[in-house]
Amino acid sequence: MKVSTTNAPAAEIQAEALILTIPEGTGKPTSWDAVDAVVGGIVSEALAGPGFQGKRGQTLALSTPGNHCRELVLVGLGIPEEFDLEVWRRAVANGIAKARQRGSSKIAVPLPEIDGHDSEELSIAATEAAILTSYRYREFKAAPPEFVELKEILLAAPVNIAAATMRAQKVADATCWARDLVNTPSNMKRPDSLAENAREMAVETGLEFEIIDSGKAQQLGLNALLAVGQGSSVGPRLVILEHRPMGATGQPTVIVGKGITFDTGGISLKPAQKMGDMKADMSGAAAVFGTMQALANLDAQRWVVGVTPLAENMPGSQAYRPSDIIRAYDGTTIEVLNTDAEGRVVLADALAYACKRYEPCRIVDLATLTGACVVALGSHAAGLMGNNDELCNALISSGNATGERLWRLPAWSAYDKLVDSEVANVRNSAGRAAGVVTAGMFLKRFVGNTSWAHLDIAGTAFLEKATPYQPRGGTGFGVRLLTHWLST
Ligand code: BES
Ligand code: MN
Ligand code: ZN
Repeated sequence: MKVSTTNAPAAEIQAEALILTIPEGTGKPTSWDAVDAVVGGIVSEALAGPGFQGKRGQTLALSTPGNHCRELVLVGLGIPEEFDLEVWRRAVANGIAKARQRGSSKIAVPLPEIDGHDSEELSIAATEAAILTSYRYREFKAAPPEFVELKEILLAAPVNIAAATMRAQKVADATCWARDLVNTPSNMKRPDSLAENAREMAVETGLEFEIIDSGKAQQLGLNALLAVGQGSSVGPRLVILEHRPMGATGQPTVIVGKGITFDTGGISLKPAQKMGDMKADMSGAAAVFGTMQALANLDAQRWVVGVTPLAENMPGSQAYRPSDIIRAYDGTTIEVLNTDAEGRVVLADALAYACKRYEPCRIVDLATLTGACVVALGSHAAGLMGNNDELCNALISSGNATGERLWRLPAWSAYDKLVDSEVANVRNSAGRAAGVVTAGMFLKRFVGNTSWAHLDIAGTAFLEKATPYQPRGGTGFGVRLLTHWLST
């Protein structure tokens, strides 16, 4: 799909369909007067009728009498007081869906004038919406013959939005690649081949790449990562990607992503129902890979290292077991109470190793870590924990800007003793109470004094039900959020 831009006024745009966004309760915006005149007043007529009030999620297609555009699609923005960029993204996606259902493959979106939001912001969000809503996982099944491929989106604004749009495309493309990785079935993304996918991306984009295989991990003492991976016929890997712009000094930022290529639960086996969704248990790693790709393609001016522990959590004669005690990379001893709490175990080594090796100014991890987070927040926000308010607030504000929202949970010391073990320094499972928080408290034990934040993306990384710009399956959650945070 091509995204192009123009300065042409709405009334002069040539496309098959033209999307006009309409707020609720304010009447027809004057910006659309000229279009309305060209098409013989059908917009005013529609707004005067009972069928369309500009409510959020509402769409109405109108065939035009002339040759301007084949049709107009009116899309509701809801009441102005509740407008934000996420409302706009969803509106654009809904408009595109409607136009495509009616056979259009070249669709134009004139940007509305909205107080408090400039054309650049709106063009970025519209580009994201267009690319992300068009995404389908098509690796193993072709599109049905009647499927209308979206060929071109044309964004129109009086000011120059070409550069912003170009940048947004790169970020959205990286998000789609992350989605592909998440949607890939687990027989085709064992730790070795997922590491290979990352290597290919690194070669294409010019990122530094390093892979720590099982042998090297043994030498280094990454015993927690090794323990989780030991039940699988393919050993674990630690993949490291680095983006270091010329002249970067000081300390890098490290981002860490949980990369369990399939989570059966191990010996503490999961129930069969929906176990297949656990192919998405590497979504944290996918977000890190996608973010690194975007940073490289954007030529970002920040020094960033991506660290991803990859392993497959399988039961079997070699598997780690409940009651095992593991000496992690930093010497902390971990009592395994439940082999299904494997994410925190692999992250323990990844975090400690990254802190020791890179002495980062800050470290952020992303993980599909707990079912408890899904229970608490569902799919509309990821859980956030951290030991530094400034870092947490910066992430929250990038979350609000990108629609990948975060909700902070406490990391108070009162929770800390819940992860104490009787026989080791920590235990990997602390029972039902505050399950999302205790998982984070476990991770906190491995970052020392480093500024740290943890995103539990269990509810946001993989969707059972589509949203306007997220089809079912992998969302690529975290790529837009982290890229926004790391490039401002
Ligand atoms: N990968 C799962 C968490 C998960 C659950 C992600 C649902 C996405 C959707 C994680 O490894 C896990 O199994 N966590 C356990 C921890 C428990 C045993 C302490 C959980 O949440 O049940
Ligand atoms: Mn698990
Ligand atoms: Zn898991």
